[in-house]
Amino acid sequence: MVDTDPVIELVEVEKSFGTQKVLDKVNLQIKKGTTTVIVGPSGQGKSVIIKHMLGLMHPDEGEVRVFGQNLTQLKKKELREIRTAFGVLFQNVALFDSMTIFDNVALPLRERTKKSESEVKKAVEEKLEMMDLHNVNHKYPAQISGGMQKRVGLARALVLNPKVIFFDEPTTGLDVNKSNEIYRLFYKTQKQLNYTAVIVSHDVPKIFKLSDYVALLANKQIQNCITPEEFQLSDNPHIRSFVETTMGPIYSSELEETGFYEETEY
Ligand SMILES: Nc1ncnc2c1ncn2[C@@H]1O[C@H](COP(=O)(O)OP(=O)(O)O)[C@@H](O)[C@H]1O
Ligand SMILES: [Mg+2]
Repeated sequence: MVDTDPVIELVEVEKSFGTQKVLDKVNLQIKKGTTTVIVGPSGQGKSVIIKHMLGLMHPDEGEVRVFGQNLTQLKKKELREIRTAFGVLFQNVALFDSMTIFDNVALPLRERTKKSESEVKKAVEEKLEMMDLHNVNHKYPAQISGGMQKRVGLARALVLNPKVIFFDEPTTGLDVNKSNEIYRLFYKTQKQLNYTAVIVSHDVPKIFKLSDYVALLANKQIQNCITPEEFQLSDNPHIRSFVETTMGPIYSSELEETGFYEETEY
C-alpha cells in the first residue's frame, strides 16, 4: 500500500569521517504526514543524518531512500527534482543580508518555478501572513529581530509547499518565548499544509507535544523510533538515560515502591 510506505528510509547506513565512525548501521523510517523528532547529545551525528536525507552526504555503506528512490543512484537532475519537494530550515537560517525579506522568501519560487511576478507576490505574502509577519516586505534581515528572522526562514522553507520539511535545531539562539512562537507556527502550518516533518531539536520535552515519533541517536545508532509516550517509558538503556538526564526522573511504579521519590529533592 503506497500510503504506508515510508517517505524517507535509512537502511543500515554507515558513515565515517577519517577514522571516526559517526553512524553505524543506522535504520530509520519517516512515515508520511508525520512529525519525527531526532534527539540526542550534541556531536552524535543528527545533522549528518539530515544531510544524508537531503542527499548532501552519501553513506559509506547502506542506503538512503526518498520516495522509494535510492538517493545515491540518482543523477544530479533527478536529485534536484526530488529536492523541490523539500523545505529546509537550519539553525543559522541563512537569509541573504543584501536581499529584502520579500526577495529572500521569493527566492525559491524565482529559482525553481516559472511563476509570474504576481503569482510570486501572492505566494510570498500568503506565507509571510501565515508566519504573522506584517510590514516587513521591504526590510532587510538586519532590520528585524532574531525571532522574526527565524519566521522568515520558516516562510521561505514553506514557500514551495514542500512535501517534506527538515528543521535542524530551528530555535537555536532564541529565548523560551520566541522558541515557543516558532513551534506554535510550525504546529499551525503543519495542520494547514500537511507536510511530513523531520526535526532535530534540543527542546525536550517540549518538542514531544508536536511529535508523532521520537528517534534517539546514541552510540552511533537510532535506538528506536517510537511515540513520545513509548519513548518516556522505554526500557532501552540509552533512551532511559537520555530521558532521565533531559527530563528528570520519570514515573515508574517500581521506583516509587523503593522510595525513590522520597529521596529525590526538587
Ligand atoms: N563534513 C564533516 N567532516 C568531518 N567530520 C564531520 C563532518 N560533519 C560532521 N562531522 C563530525 O561528525 C560528528 C557528528 O556531527 P553532527 O552531525 O554535526 O552532530 P550533531 O548530532 O550535533 O548534529 C561530529 O563529531 C562532527 O565533528
Ligand atoms: Mg547538529
